[in-house]
Amino acid sequence: MTVFVFDAYGTLFDVHSAIGRFRTEAGPDADRISDLWRTKQLEYSWTLTLAGKYEDFWTLTERALDYALARFPSVNKSLKPRYLDAYLTLDAYPDARATLQALKARGLATAILSNGSPNMLQAAVNAAGLDKELDAILSVDSLRMFKPRPEVYQFTADTMKAAPGEVIFASSNRWDVMGARAFGFRPVWVNRTNMPDEYANLPPMTVVSDLQSLVNII
Ligand code: LAC
Repeated sequence: MTVFVFDAYGTLFDVHSAIGRFRTEAGPDADRISDLWRTKQLEYSWTLTLAGKYEDFWTLTERALDYALARFPSVNKSLKPRYLDAYLTLDAYPDARATLQALKARGLATAILSNGSPNMLQAAVNAAGLDKELDAILSVDSLRMFKPRPEVYQFTADTMKAAPGEVIFASSNRWDVMGARAFGFRPVWVNRTNMPDEYANLPPMTVVSDLQSLVNII
């Protein structure tokens, strides 16, 4: 039976909505610090996993913000607790809820697989009102390693009681699509901003430009 699994950050939730809520207070480097915050958060997850180490994603999210604030001294540091709080209640993309509802209406199981730690995922899902539309919220935290390690995708297939080829995996992160494809999922790349392709040898099954288009691929 087909199951539909979503990446969380960047796919269902807009990671730039945290700093975005404080754009005026943050000043002219708001977009740059938001980009660097995300870049460093991901880098820390990958480098620690490569080194055989683990710290949860919330800890790495705070460390990445500290680094980004140090790199952009123009940005108001006293707002750090508010930037972090905002990360717990990120905006969902406007079509996230309707898409999950439409998939469920077709009888498909829906889930999140994310590098996020369980508390931050639950907070974001609750804030966006998506809890009823998801059958499972899976975090890598119990495995203490991050995507794109194959063990994490295997854990997802096992938990959802699906063969790898029965899992449609939607992610806006091309590196995550790569990992899902390497494992044997059927990945869909949600490429909202028409970014150039990468990882040519591990392509998505299909590419869409928004979440609602996912409903038409099955
Ligand atoms: C996620 C991030 C890393 O796994 O996009 O949700």
